[in-house]
Amino acid sequence: MKQNIKAYSLILACVLCMAACHAALAEETIELIGSIATTQVFSEEPVDMADLETIAQSGLSAASAINQQPWYFVVITNKDVMIQIGGSEGSQRASLGASPAAIIIYKVNDSKSPNPDFDCGLACENMVIAADTLGYSTKIVSSPTMALNGERHDEICELLNVDTSCSAVAVLLVGHADTDAVSSASIRDDAEAKVSYIQ
Ligand SMILES: Cc1cc2nc3c(=O)[nH]c(=O)nc-3n(C[C@H](O)[C@H](O)[C@H](O)COP(=O)(O)O)c2cc1C
Repeated sequence: MKQNIKAYSLILACVLCMAACHAALAEETIELIGSIATTQVFSEEPVDMADLETIAQSGLSAASAINQQPWYFVVITNKDVMIQIGGSEGSQRASLGASPAAIIIYKVNDSKSPNPDFDCGLACENMVIAADTLGYSTKIVSSPTMALNGERHDEICELLNVDTSCSAVAVLLVGHADTDAVSSASIRDDAEAKVSYIQ
């Protein structure tokens, strides 16, 4: 009898502990999502290759219309390649060529997805959250897509081993934030202006 009471107490303690851990994790995740800010200057510290693989894998986990997964990611840590595809060298501001790693998010144009850009956006946000969870900072930039999809599109696709039917949607820059540079999330509109609840 005594042993049974002990066992039940132990099980109850475990369940309560798991519930508390779950609540703490949920709170931590919500807090993380609310605190993600675009990084404006990266330090030169490199990004671990295994972490980049984890980040890319998180992008692959995104949902997409009709599960078409109309994306292709190119993970670049080679500065020379970043410059070759339109990045700028020696820039202070976080940009292609001034970040330790860049993930080009290409959309597959001949997929059946009715909205491949949206699907790619979901994949990108997954990667942002994964990178932040791993302790990195990020910046999404669409400006490099002008060069990536411009007159050198096919040449760049060949260099990056990407099918020429793809076009770049955005580039996710990943690295460590330069601690000397001030970076904070821009102010967002409040829920009253942007969310309706119909009950
Ligand atoms: C799809 C997309 C494209 C963006 N393109 C650029 C860009 O080309 N250049 C840039 O400096 N910032 C770019 N940004 C960063 C936004 O300007 C930034 O996320 C926004 O100002 C909010 O700032 P915060 O993330 O620090 O809160 C882009 C962001 C998104 C989501």
